[in-house]
Order: sequence, then C-alpha cells, then structure tokens
Amino acid sequence: MMEAPSYNPKQTAELLGVPVKALQAALRKDAYSPTDVWDLRAKLSKRPPSIGSRKQLFLNFKGGTGKTSLSSSYAFRLAEMGYRVLLVDLDSQGHATKCLGYEGEDFSLTVLDVLVRKAPIALAIQKTPLPNLDFVPSNLSMSTIDLALMPLAGREFKLRNALKEVDGQYDVIIFDAPPSFGLLNLNALMAADDLFVPVLADFLSFHGLKLLFETVQSLEEDLGHVLDHVFIIVNAYNATYKLAKEAIEALRTHYPEYLLPQLVRQCTKFAQASSEGVPVFLADRECKGAHDIQAIINEVTSRLATKQAKPVESKRAV
Ligand SMILES: Nc1ncnc2c1ncn2[C@@H]1O[C@H](COP(=O)(O)OP(=O)(O)OP(=O)(O)O)[C@@H](O)[C@H]1O
Ligand SMILES: [Mg+2]
Repeated sequence: MMEAPSYNPKQTAELLGVPVKALQAALRKDAYSPTDVWDLRAKLSKRPPSIGSRKQLFLNFKGGTGKTSLSSSYAFRLAEMGYRVLLVDLDSQGHATKCLGYEGEDFSLTVLDVLVRKAPIALAIQKTPLPNLDFVPSNLSMSTIDLALMPLAGREFKLRNALKEVDGQYDVIIFDAPPSFGLLNLNALMAADDLFVPVLADFLSFHGLKLLFETVQSLEEDLGHVLDHVFIIVNAYNATYKLAKEAIEALRTHYPEYLLPQLVRQCTKFAQASSEGVPVFLADRECKGAHDIQAIINEVTSRLATKQAKPVESKRAV
C-alpha cells in the first residue's frame, strides 16, 4: 500500500497557495497529512483552477516509452495539487498499480470485469492515502480483454459508457494504456478527451507514431470521435546524445502542433520509484523527473484552463 506522504508547513502552504502564516492560522501543525491538506483546501477555498472534467489517455503502441512512469506521476501530482483524480490501469502488466504501491493480484476486480462482466465501476475503484486520488487496479487476468470484448455489441464504447457512472466525481480521469493495438486501446481512445503520447527521442519511434495518428484519424472518420487535444511528450531525453536532438527536430517538423516544448529528461529516479512502488514525487521531489512533470502539468493545465490548447485540426500530420 502507498505510504501516506507528509508535508512540512512550507510544502503545505505551497500546495495550497497561501502564506505559511495563513496556513498556521487555519491549522497549526509540524507535519500535515494529505487529508489535512484536502480539508484545508475546502476551509480556505483553495481549489486549483478548473480544467473542466477531462479524460486523458497516455498511449503509444510502442512499448517502454514512459506511458506508465509519466501517467502515474502526472496523476499523483495533479492530486497533490488538489484535483480529484482517478487513475485507470488498463495494462495487464499492472505497472501503474505498482507505481502507486499496490500489487494488482491483490484485487479481484479490474476493468475487464467492468467492461465485459458489467461489474459497476464503483466496485472496482480503490482508494489511496490521498483522499482525492483513486485508482482502478489491473492484473494478469486483464490479458484476455481484447478477445473478451470481440463478440460484444458496441464493443468500442464499453469504457466510455462505464465511466458515465462516475460522472462529476473526478476532475481528471487518467488512463495508462498497454503497448498494444487492440479493442481495449480503441475503447480508451473513444473514452478520451485528450491524448498524451510519450515518445523516446529516437527514430524507431516514428513508425509507431504514424500508426497511432492514422488510428486517431480513422476513429474520427469511422466512429465520429474527435479528440480535443493531442500532446506528444519527449521522454527520457538526454541532451548529450546528438541523435536525440535530431529526433526532436524531426518531431518538430512532422508534428509541430502536437509536440509539447516541455520534455522529460532522463532521470534514474523513475526506475527507483517504480521498483519501490512510489510515485516519482515521493522518491525525490527535487529530481529532474519530478521537475519536468510539474512543468508539463503547468503547461497543460494553463492551456486547458484558458482553452488556448490547439484543438486537433483537420490538417493532420500523418
Ligand atoms: N524519463 C526517464 N528517465 C529514465 N528512465 C525512464 C524515464 N521514463 C521511464 N523510464 C524507465 O523506462 C522504463 C519504461 O518506462 P515505463 O514502464 O513507464 O514505459 P511504458 O511505456 O509504460 O512501458 P510499457 O509499454 O511496457 O507499458 C522503466 O524502467 C522506467 O523506469
Ligand atoms: Mg506501461
């Protein structure tokens, strides 16, 4: 189980966006729990800026590009910032579940039960020590989900429909997708408002991207679903590699409207965090990875809050 983080007065005041004095006037403590912070948000009316109610998918058909590392730490940090977050683990490897500190095999209900066996999603949702961070776990029993979805009517819309049950309960629902091309990921795309595509700065990643954007386009044409935003995130960037710089140049040329200028640098704390089952922010708040994910959150939330984000245009770079 995830260990509850503890915040000193300075960190708590920063999370709430108030001076330390105001914090201590409301509640004086040496160490604040996530529940203290959540209660103080209500008491001090310090909810973060609204970004609407969003469903965000981290997907790349290629494996090992950072979908899980980025989605789980992004989800965790948004929750620390005061958003109500649900992280949905769609991968039978159960890595997002592990990144939050849990073992997928300890849970009996997964997305498979919800989509195929009509279990209410509320029964599959698990709590964490952060009162505003929930998750739907995954484990190996999920590995047959593409086959199980195949004969069902409306098989592309199962996830989208299941989530209607929790409408209004979360500010952000985040999906961590498996590296595969099948019905579950089609469901994830159909449920998503925004698509985050973690890529490595190498040229092998390009084929996968082309396939991904072709899929997004056919979704629009065949199933009538248009994504609001697409964000390509360069992950594990190492500025000393000449090839990495060239790959970014190529991404900038081919996908200028999607590529986020903020990138995530190579950072060993991701490996440490996932092996210890803690979000990267708890492994080391000062590490490059934590810093870079915060920068991405700042950029994305400000675009969503002001609606400046570039919507997916008809002129698509495929
Ligand atoms: N910015 C980074 N710097 C260094 N290592 C990283 C970074 N991001 C991810 N990693 C490491 O790369 C590996 C793959 O990351 P991760 O599991 O997040 O990718 P994934 O896309 O979810 O993989 P899969 O396709 O298997 O689901 C992990 O060992 C992780 O610790
Ligand atoms: Mg993964």
